[in-house]
Amino acid sequence: MGTVQAKNLSPAFGAEISGVEPRLPLDAETRTALKKLFDERSLLVFRNLDADLPFQTYLSEMLIGNDVSDLDKLPVIDKFFVSNKEAGGAAPFGRLLFHSDLMWVENGCQLLSLYGQRIEQPSIPTLFIDNAQAWNTLPEDLRVRVEGLSAAHCQDATSQRSKTQLENVLVSNFEVKETVTLPIAYRHPRTGRTQLYACPQMTHHIVGLSHQESEDLLGELFDHLYRPEAILTHEWREGDLVMWDNIALQHARPNVTADNALRTLRKTMAPAPRRENSGPRYSQAVAM
Ligand SMILES: [Fe+2]
Repeated sequence: MGTVQAKNLSPAFGAEISGVEPRLPLDAETRTALKKLFDERSLLVFRNLDADLPFQTYLSEMLIGNDVSDLDKLPVIDKFFVSNKEAGGAAPFGRLLFHSDLMWVENGCQLLSLYGQRIEQPSIPTLFIDNAQAWNTLPEDLRVRVEGLSAAHCQDATSQRSKTQLENVLVSNFEVKETVTLPIAYRHPRTGRTQLYACPQMTHHIVGLSHQESEDLLGELFDHLYRPEAILTHEWREGDLVMWDNIALQHARPNVTADNALRTLRKTMAPAPRRENSGPRYSQAVAM
């Protein structure tokens, strides 16, 4: 029974999905339709969905092409959530600059999802931008300058950002320092689309440039990536399930404080981290 319907949320990316019952397993036609929409639109929003964690996990793994035929083997992990009121949540307070989770691991986190478990209003939104859209609209002079260049990404490069307004920004200090170097014109491993791949939270520097040259060029790229018309804002309501391609999109959030309305978001990552890796390394890799 394929009844999936989609409404675009912006010209470049994002779709609001209806017609999906959150019961497992989904039929083949529904799975095919959702995977196609996910590859095309990179961000799927389900409103007012009574989704439990196994359903959220199933959808997360299925959308990146993992086998979900054995429901008893779903990698359900019940420890990841973001909250400004409930104890044990990741990234409880602060503003988060644009980033992709685990950007310092190539292809490490392909999909993120958040479910609005307990949301009171007014709620702080999550912001998104599309890396491929940024590349496709990059002015020619900037494109010529970055073609062939690579950038090094690490867990937190916020301290590099002298020109960025950093008031209320949450900074994470990781015990183990990890980096990866990737082309700035980075080809998406699953869709093949070329993307502008750099962000203020995790991109440490552009390889081969001086610190000042690197910061100046990154500043120009950030001005383009985060121009106001490129940003899609998701306003949270209880029962929202938001799933996005963590390589195709970047996300951010405005400042969140304990005084704000209750905001608890249940999170999945796909592929799911193995149990032995689901400690601080991943719980610090916050989403919002
Ligand atoms: Fe995040």
